[in-house]
Amino acid sequence: MDTDRLLRELTDFLRIPSVSTDASHNADCRAAAEWVAGELRRLGCREVQFLASGTHPVVWGVGPEVPGAPTLLLYGHYDVQPPEPLDQWTTPPFEPTVRDGKLFARGAADDKGQVFCLLKAIEERGGRPPVNFRFLIEGEEEYGSRVLFELLRREPERTRADAVLIADMAYIAPRWPAVYTTLRGLCYAEITVRTAKSDLHSGEFGGAAPNAHEELARLLGRLKTPDGKVHVPGLYASVKRPSKVELATWKRLPFREAEFLKHRVQAKALTGLKSYSVLERLWALPTFEIHGITGGFTGDGAKTVIPAEATAKVSLRLVPDQKLKTVERQLAVAVRRLAPKHVQASVTFLHGADPATVQVTHPAFKLLDQAFREVVGRGTVPARAGGSIPVVPALGKGGAPVILTGIGLPDDRLHAPNEKLDLKQLWDGIRVFGRFYELLASL
Ligand code: BES
Ligand code: MN
Ligand code: MN
Repeated sequence: MDTDRLLRELTDFLRIPSVSTDASHNADCRAAAEWVAGELRRLGCREVQFLASGTHPVVWGVGPEVPGAPTLLLYGHYDVQPPEPLDQWTTPPFEPTVRDGKLFARGAADDKGQVFCLLKAIEERGGRPPVNFRFLIEGEEEYGSRVLFELLRREPERTRADAVLIADMAYIAPRWPAVYTTLRGLCYAEITVRTAKSDLHSGEFGGAAPNAHEELARLLGRLKTPDGKVHVPGLYASVKRPSKVELATWKRLPFREAEFLKHRVQAKALTGLKSYSVLERLWALPTFEIHGITGGFTGDGAKTVIPAEATAKVSLRLVPDQKLKTVERQLAVAVRRLAPKHVQASVTFLHGADPATVQVTHPAFKLLDQAFREVVGRGTVPARAGGSIPVVPALGKGGAPVILTGIGLPDDRLHAPNEKLDLKQLWDGIRVFGRFYELLASL
């Protein structure tokens, strides 16, 4: 394997700041799509197309025909999360840098480095691909995948395959590859509170006029109490506890709550529903998080004003058997009920995803297990994921098994400053997926 050349190529891909949630990066998203299309052409794809959107196209590819061999659909995303806060990066997010065997850049692990891994595993084998490849590499995953959703609703035949492979997650611990049985869903919303026609002088009116920030803070404080309970009526109704057997297998995973607090969270304490284990809180229970609050005065210096409007960006994570549509309704009702009469509160939904469950019984999972076993010395452990990939339920609709795995590590700092990918994980990953493709050919 010519690792120097591979590293140069991945660096070119990572240099493109394809931030999908920020329209000022639309041209960069397009450039990242072009980069992917170029790779697909080099792999000898018969068909390479941009589908459904001018700014964030879904890159569709059809690999060389291999008569009689199974069809494998590879899914991934070339878009990345915003890199801010920039001052916390040791080296700039879009100037990929290797330090200590790790490649630092936004998108290194989520998900450009892993898309790269899936594609290079085909190229590195040399010769003709062993199976019939289909590619769906999208550019809006980090913004809810609206374009791809619509596309798959209109053209479900795009997902026709014997298996779908997604590398967009991590090993459960170093040297412990994983295959994921559930993903959480997501309900992302803005809650806006209005208390007066316009801002008011806090001396003239303070003491007698309502304050939007104060009302919003109270409302948010009622939506989730310090014990970690989310007070959205009906939210927990369809939540099923994992079986005793599944909970018992989690106890045997290489996961220690104290170590998770000390090295990964790096805070003083863990929060949430204390009567459940941390893994159950991360994997099998819904959440409510506040991402940011705006309104009033936040500039430099001081301004004495009573804000008339305040907005919070929030999201709930959903677990199997919850439905996005239901939770949206429940949140809107909860906000309306919690707001006092003199406060006008509204909820706008930005994007979301249903949770996903996959059965890991299809023979293809055994082959992935074998490939990992041969290359890294240990097979895949089944685990759940706390994160979301919106189109996973849609990708599985045609009946193909959706294989959720990845080459990341738990300390990759996805969405945060100094995101990285360990190069050893990448080189191993190229061998693992190459071997998996080969094994799949004989299925
Ligand atoms: N790759 C992640 C999802 C992920 C992360 C799964 C960690 C399992 C473990 C994906 O790119 C992601 O970040 N998804 C977003 C989706 C949202 C913006 C609709 C998420 O989970 O926040
Ligand atoms: Mn991802
Ligand atoms: Mn992500």
